[in-house]
Formats: sequence, C-alpha cells, structure tokens
Amino acid sequence: MKTRVTELLDIEYPIIQGGMAWVAEHNLAAAVSKAGGLGVIGAANAPAEVVRKEIRQVKEMTDKPFGVNIMLLSPAADEVAQVVIEEGVKVVTTGAGNPGKYLKAWKEAGIKVIPVVASVAMAKMLEREGVDAVIAEGCESGGHIGDLTTMTLVPQIVDAVSIPVIGAGGVGDGRGMAAMFMLGADAVQIGTRFVVADESIVHENYKNKIIAARDIDSAVTGRSTGHPVRSLRNKMTREYLKKEAEGASFEELELMTVGSLRNAVLDGDVVNGSLMAGQIAGLISKKQSCQEIIHELMTETTALMKKVPQMFEVC
Ligand SMILES: Cc1cc2nc3c(=O)[nH]c(=O)nc-3n(C[C@H](O)[C@H](O)[C@H](O)COP(=O)(O)O)c2cc1C
Repeated sequence: MKTRVTELLDIEYPIIQGGMAWVAEHNLAAAVSKAGGLGVIGAANAPAEVVRKEIRQVKEMTDKPFGVNIMLLSPAADEVAQVVIEEGVKVVTTGAGNPGKYLKAWKEAGIKVIPVVASVAMAKMLEREGVDAVIAEGCESGGHIGDLTTMTLVPQIVDAVSIPVIGAGGVGDGRGMAAMFMLGADAVQIGTRFVVADESIVHENYKNKIIAARDIDSAVTGRSTGHPVRSLRNKMTREYLKKEAEGASFEELELMTVGSLRNAVLDGDVVNGSLMAGQIAGLISKKQSCQEIIHELMTETTALMKKVPQMFEVC
C-alpha cells in the first residue's frame, strides 16, 4: 500500500507507532520498524544521553527507518534536538507545542519533521513554517489530548493543508484504519494497541488492564490545569478528579501524578499509577507481536477498502 506518507518516510505500511513516554523505548520502536511501520522512540523528559543510547540500540536491532518523538516542554528538549541530528535520525515527531526554533537545523540535516496537532490553526501555521506532515490527534487518544474528536479533526485539517496528514486517536483495527483513509488521512498513528504488544516493556498488570477495559473505562484528568490527559480509571484518577472538582491548585494536582506513568509501566502499579490509554482500549482484546498487529491491520484494511465499490453497487 503506497501513500504520500509511505513515500515520504520510506516505509512499507502507513502505520506509525505513537512516541509514548516510558512505553516507546528501543524494543518497541525496533519491532514496529522491522514489521514495516515506523517505530518511534518516545523521548519524553529523558536526558539527551539516554535518548542517544536508545537511538543506538534501535540502530543495532534494525536498519529500517525509525523516528524520535520530542516533547517540546521537556527540560532536555534543546539537547535532544541536537542528538537527533548527530545520530542521523530520519524522522522527528513533536508533541506539546511548536517545533519552529529547531526546524531550520533539522531540515538542513535532512530530518522529516512531523508535529502532533489538535487544531486546524496549528496545522496551517506549521505547514507555513515548513514541516513535512502533521499528525492530527483526536481526543479519543491515550495520553495528553486536545478538544476535538478524530472524526471531526482529521477531515478539517485535511481540507486546510496540502501536506500529508496522519490520523491519530481511536484506531484499534482495520475498520478504524480504513475510516482514517476515508477521512483523507495518508497514514495512521497508533498508541494504545501497541502498549499491549509482546515487544512492549509495559508491565503485565498495565497490559491486562487495557485488555480488560470496556468502552467507558477511560477518564480525562487535568482539564482544569489546561493539560488534559486520558487514562484508564483507577484510584489515582478518582482522587484526582475529586480534588479537581474541589478546586485544588495546579501544584497540588501535579504532585499526585509525578512519576505515575513510570510506576505503571515499570512497576505495574495499576492503583496509583497513570494507565494512559485511549477510548479504543475497549476494543483491544489480545496481546500480539508488532508483526502480527501490523499484518492484521493491513489485511483488515485492504479487505474493507476493496469492499467499498461493491457496497455502492448494491445501492
Ligand atoms: C501510554 C501513552 C503515552 C503517550 N505518550 C506520548 C508522548 O510522550 N508524546 C506524544 O506525542 N504522544 C504520546 N501519546 C499519544 C500517542 O503517541 C498516540 O498519538 C495516541 O496514543 C494515539 O491514540 P490511541 O491511543 O487511540 O491509539 C501517548 C499515548 C499513550 C497511550
């Protein structure tokens, strides 16, 4: 399957693995890239030398293209921005803001720059600044989210820009992926389904919570602070939401979540940890290798897309 994104990134399938903090380390990124998608290391708040090591580990595991997701609010963002150049990384995705100040250096280094956006205005501004594509991420997603749903955001961004659009948020199987193409996307970015992949280092307790989740089992904390985050409901989200409703300060709320994603991913703390996951968790029912996930997604998507002309013949 060739799309503008497979051509741009030199990958076999139009599937990008979300650059997830703590979750997306070298094992997951390398497995997705080996399977023909784009694996992405989630740099999150990690120091630059940790990210350098992760990059080198992926390179040892595969010679396929992979990317690094840089959280622009990270205290290490300036150094990580330099490390991706020094290490010859081919693709950078960015979260939490405008990567403008790094664009010139990244473009000169031949890096494809793909920011995550949650509004048409941001997508248009970044296109003007010269990014190669955008990831339009709807609020169904796990992790930090914007306001609009994937269904409404993706087609509006597709109409507003001429660079390729990658749709993110709520893709769990071939139906979701085919729907993204119908909305005008050139590829999908998937987070939650890869959290439970065999190659993901996420603790089994956390993976099992995603497998067991129902459609209504995620909640959004942090709306009052301006930093909304979607995760599975547990003691932490209940207490957070209660404190938020009582008008707790930003600092007090922040204290409740410091280290909570790390504790869920590495220690399997499903009570007080942050179990970031999207609304699609309710559809995810099995653990598979990245190769199996990508193969299944592609088989389902192509079968559905071939059926579309027949559906209209019936009419
Ligand atoms: C555990 C987790 C951590 C995430 N961390 C990040 C991150 O550090 N940076 C980022 O840009 N997106 C992050 N995301 C969002 C994903 O990259 C992706 O866009 C999103 O999960 C797609 O929606 P889905 O979960 O419905 O597949 C995270 C998502 C999850 C589930």
